[in-house]
Amino acid sequence: MAAIIVVGTQWGDEGKGKIVDIYAGEADIIARFQGGNNAGHTLVVEGEQTILHLIPSGILHNGKTCILGNGMVINPKVLIREIDELQERHIFPSDTKLFISTNAHIIMPYHMRVDLAREARMGKSKIGTTGRGIGPAYEDKMSRVGIRLCDLLDDRIFREKLSKNIEEKNFYLTEFCKEEPVDSDAIYTEYKAYADRLREYAANTSLLIDEGLRSGKHILFEGAQGCHLDIDHGTFPFVTSSNTVAGSACCGSGIGPTRIDGVVGICKAYTTRVGSGPFVTELTDEIGEKIQNIGHEFGATTGRKRRCGWLDMVLVKQSVRVSGITGIALTKLDVLTGINPLKICVGYTTDHEEFTEVVPSNLNVFEQCRPLYEQFEGWTEDISHIRDFDELPAAVKRYVSRLEELAGVPVVLTSVGPDRDETIITQNPFDMKQ
Ligand code: IMP
Repeated sequence: MAAIIVVGTQWGDEGKGKIVDIYAGEADIIARFQGGNNAGHTLVVEGEQTILHLIPSGILHNGKTCILGNGMVINPKVLIREIDELQERHIFPSDTKLFISTNAHIIMPYHMRVDLAREARMGKSKIGTTGRGIGPAYEDKMSRVGIRLCDLLDDRIFREKLSKNIEEKNFYLTEFCKEEPVDSDAIYTEYKAYADRLREYAANTSLLIDEGLRSGKHILFEGAQGCHLDIDHGTFPFVTSSNTVAGSACCGSGIGPTRIDGVVGICKAYTTRVGSGPFVTELTDEIGEKIQNIGHEFGATTGRKRRCGWLDMVLVKQSVRVSGITGIALTKLDVLTGINPLKICVGYTTDHEEFTEVVPSNLNVFEQCRPLYEQFEGWTEDISHIRDFDELPAAVKRYVSRLEELAGVPVVLTSVGPDRDETIITQNPFDMKQ
């Protein structure tokens, strides 16, 4: 029995889908605990690509229990479409169980409308959200007016909450945003149909996870986004609206921190970012373009181009600290093949200060930061067929070992290609139990 959390160490898009899919092979229960369909986890199995936005990546394995935890915000329309698509393609095995926490909050059409209207009003200073209504849904949760799955399933409560919320949202949409109001009756009818479809999946998922742990099962907590998009510890305000760090797995799934055995931090061999916000190691030249093309750095959710840059270890070190990471899964190492020299950012400097351990909280200071680089010899050999770490070219090993040294934790998995098989596993996270 072991409980492992997987989180992104950068700004999301680290390749968590593939890694979670690999670890899910060994897990019995796979649970998501925060975020919603702002996430997009891309999986390639035997050359076939699947992009999941809400359902945990473990769904592609037989006999697993997949959980959408209470910390998530769920768009029922997207979830139902995802379930239907997986079933149509026969990749939702009949012995796989899916459960949704009755405490998870529901994304409503007015959340998406408010998200888009606000971004449009902000012009140049916009966050660059995915436009999926994530922030407004979490706002309603925090202001205690949000609609949870259990509310949606209870007709009387749903009617009452919906009509109160719509009164306020329509005032905001029409008076402040100068937009059209939403139609209460249409939303009621649409969401009643969703309630009927989702009722069979509703459960107390905290209890399910606890029962799993007590009966000796392996649990995998699948984080979405990355530590630097965390609402508390990320590059505020250019962040998402949930806690994306490992601690969030406990609150967002309903189990205590004493039950966790290890945390794997997913780190891409370079850095990317979608949306706005400072990016110290960003490459706006042909190297950045090369990484973008070879790494297919387009958002899985919005299709937006991801900004690309050198590996920033200040970001990763902060994530190791804040999330208590015990091992790193290094992804997309093959994308760096043929780029020479390579650089790793080991610190930031401004005219007044240097930062090696923390990302400055003050946005003005962060914007002024310039990278301090160490330079590494690149490699030209194809590494995608290698399955034993010792067989990697010496230049690759030097790059990885400096990363390990700076992070202060070992690399436990190295991904050398998009396919499930193109992976070097040096340590099984379910054996990382202290
Ligand atoms: P929101 O989560 O849609 O509110 O977007 C807030 C910020 O987080 C924006 O910069 C998004 O681009 C970013 N973001 C949200 N989800 C992801 C993700 O899964 N990968 C990368 N960036 C994300």
